Amino acid sequence: MDTNTDNAGMDYITARLATEGSPALAFGGDYNPEQWPEETWDEDVRLMREAGVNLVSVGIFSWSLLEPSEGVYDFGWLDRILDLLHANGIRVDLANATASPPPWFSHKYPQSLPVTADGVRHSYGSRQAFAASSPDYRRAAAALTEQIAARYKDHPAVVMWHIHNEYGCHNQPDFSDGAAAGFRRWLERRYGGLEDLNAAWGTAFWSQRYSAWDEILPPRTSGTWVNPTQQLDFARYSSDELLECYKAEAAIIRSHSGHPVTTNFMGFNMGLHQPVDYWRWSEEMDVVSNDHYLISEDPRNFQELAATADLTRGWANGKPWLLMEHSTSAVNWQPRNIAKAPGEMLRNSLQHVARGADGALFFQWRASRAGAEKFHSGMLPHAGTDTKVWREVVQLGRALRSLAEVSGSVVTGASGRVDVAILHDTDARWGSELDSHPSIDSSNIAETRRWHDAFYRAGIPTDFRRSTDDLSGYRLVVAPMQYLLSDAGVANLAGYAQSGGHLVVSYFSGIVDENDHIRLGSYPGAFSKLLGVQMEEFFPLRAGESVRLSSFGTGTCWQELGKAAGAEVLAAVTEGPAAGSPAVTRHRTGSGRAYYVATSLAPAGMAELLDVVCSDSAVQPLLTGLPADVEVARRSKNGTDWTFFINHGAGEARLDVNGVDLLSGDDTGGALTLAAGGVAVVRSQTSIH
Ligand code: GAL
Repeated sequence: MDTNTDNAGMDYITARLATEGSPALAFGGDYNPEQWPEETWDEDVRLMREAGVNLVSVGIFSWSLLEPSEGVYDFGWLDRILDLLHANGIRVDLANATASPPPWFSHKYPQSLPVTADGVRHSYGSRQAFAASSPDYRRAAAALTEQIAARYKDHPAVVMWHIHNEYGCHNQPDFSDGAAAGFRRWLERRYGGLEDLNAAWGTAFWSQRYSAWDEILPPRTSGTWVNPTQQLDFARYSSDELLECYKAEAAIIRSHSGHPVTTNFMGFNMGLHQPVDYWRWSEEMDVVSNDHYLISEDPRNFQELAATADLTRGWANGKPWLLMEHSTSAVNWQPRNIAKAPGEMLRNSLQHVARGADGALFFQWRASRAGAEKFHSGMLPHAGTDTKVWREVVQLGRALRSLAEVSGSVVTGASGRVDVAILHDTDARWGSELDSHPSIDSSNIAETRRWHDAFYRAGIPTDFRRSTDDLSGYRLVVAPMQYLLSDAGVANLAGYAQSGGHLVVSYFSGIVDENDHIRLGSYPGAFSKLLGVQMEEFFPLRAGESVRLSSFGTGTCWQELGKAAGAEVLAAVTEGPAAGSPAVTRHRTGSGRAYYVATSLAPAGMAELLDVVCSDSAVQPLLTGLPADVEVARRSKNGTDWTFFINHGAGEARLDVNGVDLLSGDDTGGALTLAAGGVAVVRSQTSIH
């Protein structure tokens, strides 16, 4: 199977799910039949057929049943369920089951358990209790993978391999002695010699100079802030160590089978998970797959969903990807787990499809009866089939079948391609999240979401890219809090702007190099010349404080003292210690323009600024005149467009649009009425827009 360079894996899957020769969108979810008596299985497959389920992920957390003691395997139940699924035409994304080592393993190999920064060794009894550097874990995981791949490589139900599960999720970052040894090996590869490491880590500060490799430790708990470059390198190392586990297991599977291999990502990877650099990981995937859960109390959670889907498409190089998990209704792990309102699930699922997913799978098929996730919704709820959730599952299955022709298409914008890129470098985020920074309120994720939200509200599609990617096809590139940039990233962005691009740089971007050393000179060091500004001091605002600007409303969180040096000042700070300093600037550079935004603009000001930069760069919304609550996104293929309209509002929306709504089957005849909370997917020929 080809890797992500052409990302052909998703096409392979939709082709294998084909009904009557036409590719089908994936529909289904995690299926954990081992949690239920076998008598239940017949009902499971009958109801899967009723709902139109065509793909299930099996065996993800089954290690303790598949290998009940070391080297002793029991595949009987897995054989039976795969045969039953096959007999019912349901395809399988088969897991290699390495996500949760069994109690016998952790008991026998306690050194395989991860250790916290405080030196506490975690116990087993939940899930994902292993240290990526543990040779025992790696050996056992490889042995199990070998057994599963060899046994099921030719099973007719299997079309895809699901390695592990959400690497880093509930998997304590490991600070053990084993991790210390692994970290040193990784550092030797990165720096070669200790002198280079000392220079990169800035160890002249606070007497931290290392004189032997053995002295180097993971950033364990210390009296106060641990060396920031050491923390950053440890995040990079931890991601790479997990990636080694994935690659070793993927190699075993690929030696047996040509089906695509994936592991499921976790979107923006918030919360107490291990750092994982998905840009690097996605290069190793045949299919990029992602799990997404709404934060139920976030009033704009659908925008966060849109941002995550766009980011996942970035990892997939713009090609279709797979929504491996989302929820039919409530989850169990938020402070208050609010169930989805009627219709919300369909909107969520189709939002992902609108933004490039070639399928919508859930966690999980049947809601569990026991265990920590028994209050998590499933496709088949505890209350059975006479329920809102089940009816909506059946409805979604029908909707996905009617959208099958969308598979393989790509997301496009008004010009026929996506014109705007938002940068989201992993190192920039990790660096910005280090301690002892000017303000606790500056957040890479929050700032990224503010920019994405502004484009979302304006109906302008955005891609996510890295600073080092080829950006020449974009009319506009936004760098929200790209705090840490490599020299290559800085040069690429400067080249982009100078050769005709429009580059918007937000505050706290281009501040440090890849070792977290300040880029000296006027702030922002990487871009001061390019932007035509000379900023000298950061003046973060107090909690809840805002500052009036001469245009674009108010700024929050941040402001800077400084002056324009060639740039046109579009807005200045009008009050307080930084009064008179530029807040928003525009500078001609080469044949392009570079903009600086030295504060965090409120939504209204952001919208006004977007009008300016989009008009400068000739970026257009996908459609004009849409009601504010109607989300629009488009996918295109071979001269056909599919425009998704999703009404997040409480009122009916009337739209002027031509084409056939695939969900209702009706020709709009030029006007479409979208009910409150409703969705339409209108097919038209590309020449129409
Ligand atoms: C995911 C995980 C699933 C399940 C789900 C619950 O993070 O992959 O196994 O735990 O969350 O929302």
